[in-house]
Amino acid sequence: MTATAPASTTRSNQSLDAYWMPFTANRQFKENPRMLVSAKGMHYRSDDNRSILDGTAGLWCCNAGHGHKKITDAVARQLDELDFAPSFQMGHPIAFEFAERLKAVAPEGFNHVFFTGSGSESVDTALKMALAYHRARGDSSRTRLIGRERGYHGVGFGGISVGGIVNNRRHFGSLLTGVDHLRHTHDLSRNAFSKGQPDFGADLADDLEAMVALHGAETIAAVIVEPVAGSTGVLVPPKGYLERLRALCDQHGILLIFDEVITGFGRLGTPFAADFFGVKPDLFTTAKGLTNGVVPMGAVFARDHIHDAFMQAPDGAIELFHGYTYSGHPAACAAGIATLDIYESRKLLTRGAELAGIWEDKMHALRDARHVKDIRNLGLIAGIELASREGAVGKRAYEAFVKCFEAGVLIRVTGEIIALSPPLILEEEHIDEMVDTLRKVLSEVA
Ligand SMILES: Cc1ncc(COP(=O)(O)O)c(C=O)c1O
Repeated sequence: MTATAPASTTRSNQSLDAYWMPFTANRQFKENPRMLVSAKGMHYRSDDNRSILDGTAGLWCCNAGHGHKKITDAVARQLDELDFAPSFQMGHPIAFEFAERLKAVAPEGFNHVFFTGSGSESVDTALKMALAYHRARGDSSRTRLIGRERGYHGVGFGGISVGGIVNNRRHFGSLLTGVDHLRHTHDLSRNAFSKGQPDFGADLADDLEAMVALHGAETIAAVIVEPVAGSTGVLVPPKGYLERLRALCDQHGILLIFDEVITGFGRLGTPFAADFFGVKPDLFTTAKGLTNGVVPMGAVFARDHIHDAFMQAPDGAIELFHGYTYSGHPAACAAGIATLDIYESRKLLTRGAELAGIWEDKMHALRDARHVKDIRNLGLIAGIELASREGAVGKRAYEAFVKCFEAGVLIRVTGEIIALSPPLILEEEHIDEMVDTLRKVLSEVA
């Protein structure tokens, strides 16, 4: 047995040992923890009682900002009335109510909602729906799934298989078989400092043609992409790219899945990215903003033709052998309905459109800040890519992240890219604070 390191503790002397933190350098963190202890509106509070401006809506979750009493009250009321109910062969009213409410904000034709517990589960659900859809129609040779390089679709085996991030894949064996990947669309040589959608790269959608030529269209079930890739550093789709992908899918009988886990619920200034781009997938996944991050939940939205294909099964048959213990959890539905009320009363699902121009101008003003090699934006998302230090990719952005936190702004970094995705309630002064802090911090990091 090896000796264990002395227990690390927080300022309040709490032990940090037992909690194995996700996607975190645990030992580094525990030596110098960054602890958030409360939140309200646009701000977190740290355990040393500093106000921290939330530049990331938590983790792309809290689109309505933090600490809404309306949401917490709704959850408390629901838990008092019905804390849990089984969701297999049983129902409870609030799950049906929430699905109806979601259908009303979804793009036209997405009339069916399947509840999950997270974005990763939503992705696995959508992939399984796509496979089972073809089978239900007697097209059972369509088993191949196509993702994209630099795609992030959560951490289930389905999601990491279609995803395109090597660190999320390399340690976990052979993954799903029968998966292929389109090339990513990130091209700084042609598109650096694009405002909004870049001009070049629509032709990359033609990779799907190459896959059809290689594998045969009749073997391909679905293509899944994030309309705007978030986790690999804000990759905005080139003009015409998603339209082209949709056309090719139609031409070859392939389903198109949008992963809207981060773009859903107002991030681009429209309720969903499908609305923003005017491109309708067959299925789309959501989570995060669905409940404002307050209770974990995800949802897959299906168009009628997908849902109806399953409803041809014999009477009494379970049409889709899939579901989660927590599908449609009452507390999550209560949080979701209260969240939708807030989105609607404050017009947050379209507020991003009002601020997008200012956001774009102010973010691109960082173009001359130290180390900056690209800036990209869409809706209320920005990506700021830094030049790397020789042999130390990601170190500079990580140091900027720590310094921003110390200076009172929460940003997110992925590799050498800073990603910003603030709550949709932000005001111009918050944008200024983010930009000023970033400029200063970038001037300080080596
Ligand atoms: C596009 C996308 N899909 C799926 C997920 C996974 O969601 P979760 O972490 O809730 O499983 C994420 C999380 O960031 C995401 O950005």
